Amino acid sequence: MEILIRDTPEAGAKVGASVVRKIIQTKDKPVLGLATGGTPLRMYKVLIRMNQSGELSFRNCTTFNLDEYGGLPPENKRSYHYYMMSNFFDHTDIDKKNVHLPDGYAEDLRETCRKYENLINDAGGIDLQVLGIGANGHIGFNEPTGSFASRTWVKILSKQTIQDNSIYFDKLEEVPRHVVTMGIATIMESRHCLLMANGAKKADAIRKMIEGPVSASCPASILQMHPRVTIVLDEEASYLLTFKDHYKWVEKNKLDWQLY
Ligand code: PGA
Repeated sequence: MEILIRDTPEAGAKVGASVVRKIIQTKDKPVLGLATGGTPLRMYKVLIRMNQSGELSFRNCTTFNLDEYGGLPPENKRSYHYYMMSNFFDHTDIDKKNVHLPDGYAEDLRETCRKYENLINDAGGIDLQVLGIGANGHIGFNEPTGSFASRTWVKILSKQTIQDNSIYFDKLEEVPRHVVTMGIATIMESRHCLLMANGAKKADAIRKMIEGPVSASCPASILQMHPRVTIVLDEEASYLLTFKDHYKWVEKNKLDWQLY
């Protein structure tokens, strides 16, 4: 795992955007896996600036989002469709016909999940998957103790995630319990993963992910088995790491080509 620790979330967002830029600049038809939530918002702002200044184009990109709430139509302001359009896609030159999110409003959710896996395969797989992490260690909406072999499917949110995400809804009861999410196996097939986390609330999950045993109790810990993962943390999210000094030492001594 490549672990990059920065003083602030803003500095981390710039690193995240550089990882995305590098993939886009080195591939003819980049396929990006994207995430929602509070964490990637700063990175999307940096990417929008790069796009609007002419430094970076998303015209050749295809995107697949990690997850979506069940039962919310795309125009619902709490849906991840709405989030992606309003916080990112609407401000870039991306061709919207190459943008994909799971359809959590479909009549047949199981069919949607199967189709989503096929679409990812047809696009040639994901070059870079952007990830956040839940305070309980989830990636996508894969909650603790779910199977490491899971594919895109309908899952049930844990009570903790419902509580954590209720800040985006008017009432706790409005948070959907059912979601469609890429599975752990789907995420693990992407060629490079970029996980970002900020704040002390994530520190325990970060410690378990990087230094704990690989266990479905902390789904993100499976990333220890992925050949290419870049983790970008602020100081607060990294404060429980035993080998923090070592990660900083490694970054300082990397050869140019070794950095993400
Ligand atoms: P957050 O969510 O970025 O809003 O903290 C991350 C996640 O739950 O995966």
